[in-house]
Amino acid sequence: INLSDIRIVEVGPRDGLQNEKTVIPPAVKIELINRLNRTGLRHIEVGSFVSPKWVPQMAGTAEILTKMERVPGSHYPVLVPNMKGLEMLLRTLEAHPVPAGAPPLTDEIAVFTAATDAFSQANTNCTVAESLARLEGVAQKARDHGLRVRGYVSVIDTCPYAGQVDPAQVKNAAAALLGMGCYEVSLGDTTGTLNWLKTGNLLASFRDALPTHKLAMHLHDTFGQALANIATSVSFGVTTFDASVGGLGGCPYSPGATGNVATEDVLYFLQRPSLPADAPDLASVAAVGEWISQQLDRPNASRTGKALAAR
Ligand code: HMG
Ligand code: MG
Repeated sequence: INLSDIRIVEVGPRDGLQNEKTVIPPAVKIELINRLNRTGLRHIEVGSFVSPKWVPQMAGTAEILTKMERVPGSHYPVLVPNMKGLEMLLRTLEAHPVPAGAPPLTDEIAVFTAATDAFSQANTNCTVAESLARLEGVAQKARDHGLRVRGYVSVIDTCPYAGQVDPAQVKNAAAALLGMGCYEVSLGDTTGTLNWLKTGNLLASFRDALPTHKLAMHLHDTFGQALANIATSVSFGVTTFDASVGGLGGCPYSPGATGNVATEDVLYFLQRPSLPADAPDLASVAAVGEWISQQLDRPNASRTGKALAAR
């Protein structure tokens, strides 16, 4: 295992902020993304084109895309639930052409489904099969427009509505997303109930069925097990992990779930004894975590962030 191969997908501006109680002005979201850009994080999910009636916090993603700073070579995916969301994104891209040679506003969307019908209904008002049928056309059209497509499967361990999840349902949903051209599928432990052993059993059950290099883990840290689950995942060959600065977030349709594992904690975990030269800078990420926690008037949910801030 080469720890320098590990990639972090920063999801704080989307997964984190979508669940905040207070309304966050677009300027703060833009400032968060700009600050994250300066830490060396090169894959930052910046928002979503979902219904503002369902998730009011994500209104304003078009404005964010057009005003945030972009680092050439970085990826800035936005979540898209359906064709309407993709069309809103494409209209934004058309209305804001970039000069020749400049990076596009974004080159990536993320689509999402779930391992259970109950969660899919709560999150997107359709069954898993209906969501996959919907996303097939979305993925195709996105790729026709030169966008890469990342996929998510939610509730890979337990579902807040349907209980323990059958790994075969996770595998089938992930295989369907890869089949429609997703370059990678991020497996979402939405409720954060996995532990190191269950993570190993789950990944072992995918052997021969799903290509490990196309899998990422998206671990909500509700039970404090995310780093242990990352350790297990790495031993199974998974090298991409979603993380959220300051441990921001949760999921509006997963009551009580906390944010993704904090980016600072993942970086500290990867130190051996120091981070590789091209890794995001831990101290800078921790400073962003402190800053956004203050902006939101919430405690910093990163253990590493808190420890560094106290020095
Ligand atoms: P629906 O009510 O079935 O949709 O919702 P509809 O097609 O009947 O449309 C209803 C209204 O929404 C209409 O407006 C549409 O125009 C509008 P009205 O005529 O009533 O004024 N609408 C839209 N507006 C903006 N953007 C759109 C859009 N589509 C329709 N794209 C829908 C279906 C999918 C829209 C809705 O359920 C939705 O937006 N869901 C998103 C929920 C969400 O964002 N969840 C959080 C992200 S997923 C997550 O956090 C999990 C993850 O982190 C992994 C993990 O942790 O597990 C990724
Ligand atoms: Mg999530």
